[in-house]
Formats: sequence, structure tokens, C-alpha cells
Amino acid sequence: MHAFGEYWIQYTGKVGYGAMMDMGGDTFPEFLENLDELHTRLSINFPKYDPPSFECTETEENSLELHYRSSRHGLTAMVVGLLKGLGTRFNTEVNIVQTQNREEGAEHDAFLIEYKLN
Ligand code: HEM
Repeated sequence: MHAFGEYWIQYTGKVGYGAMMDMGGDTFPEFLENLDELHTRLSINFPKYDPPSFECTETEENSLELHYRSSRHGLTAMVVGLLKGLGTRFNTEVNIVQTQNREEGAEHDAFLIEYKLN
């Protein structure tokens, strides 16, 4: 799931979703700030849409906390892969530590993400 997520960013960047990826932001943190809105906006195109939610908090110069909420289970490893793929896309080193785990009883998953803009 992790590898799939990482690959998915490269793949969708090339086949059809490149323009949307470009609109999502110019830097890794900017893209993450826009990720929630990007998924919300897509509800116009997908009638039975049930998007995940990504909320950024504790935004500092080189780190942020990302809160992932979803009606689905089992996609957390894919999210980590997607985040790594995004880092590669933006030429940004990322270090991701999961700080809350839904499988261990937390209300939702959360990650502390440190990044180094190059
Ligand atoms: C152009 C960029 C993107 C587009 C167009 C897009 C679109 C979508 C769509 C259509 C779904 C399916 C929702 C449903 O079936 O109801 C989805 C799910 C998902 N997206 Fe994105 N997405 C994009 C980028 C990203 C990125 C960068 C992440 C990084 C974390 C991400 C994380 C997810 C996850 C984890 C799901 C699975 C659903 C869930 O967790 O409940 N997406 N996305």
C-alpha cells in the first residue's frame, strides 16, 4: 500500500491529473494545505463521492501536523506513500511520523511531517 501510494503520485501526475496536481500548489506544504479543498471540490464530478479529509494544523516553517479522516479503513499506509510521492514531486525531503492511530483507538490518524524545501 505504501509503495502503491508513492507510485500513484507519479502516475496521476502523468496521466490526466497533471493539471489538477499543478493547481494544488507550488510547494509541498502549500499542496497539503489545499488537499482538503481539492477533494471537496471534486464532489461536483463524482455523485457518490465520499472523500477523505486532510486538515493541516501546527503549521511551522519546516513542519506541520496532518489529520487524516476517512470513512474507509486500511488506507493509512497508502497515505504515507502518497505523502512521500508528493515530497518527490516537489523535490522535498520528508520525514513522516504517525502521531495518532485509528487502529489503536484514536478518533482519526494524524502525522507529524517534517520537510526540507530544496
Ligand atoms: C490531482 C490530485 C488528486 C485528485 C484528483 C484526487 C481525487 C480523489 C478521488 C476522486 C478519490 C475517491 C473518493 C471516493 O471514491 O469517494 C480520492 C481518494 C483519496 N485520495 Fe485523492 N486525489 C488527489 C490527490 C491526492 C493526494 C495528493 C493525496 C495524498 C494524501 C490523496 C489522498 C487520497 C486518499 C487517501 C483517498 C482514499 C479515500 C479515503 O481515504 O477515504 N489524494 N482522491
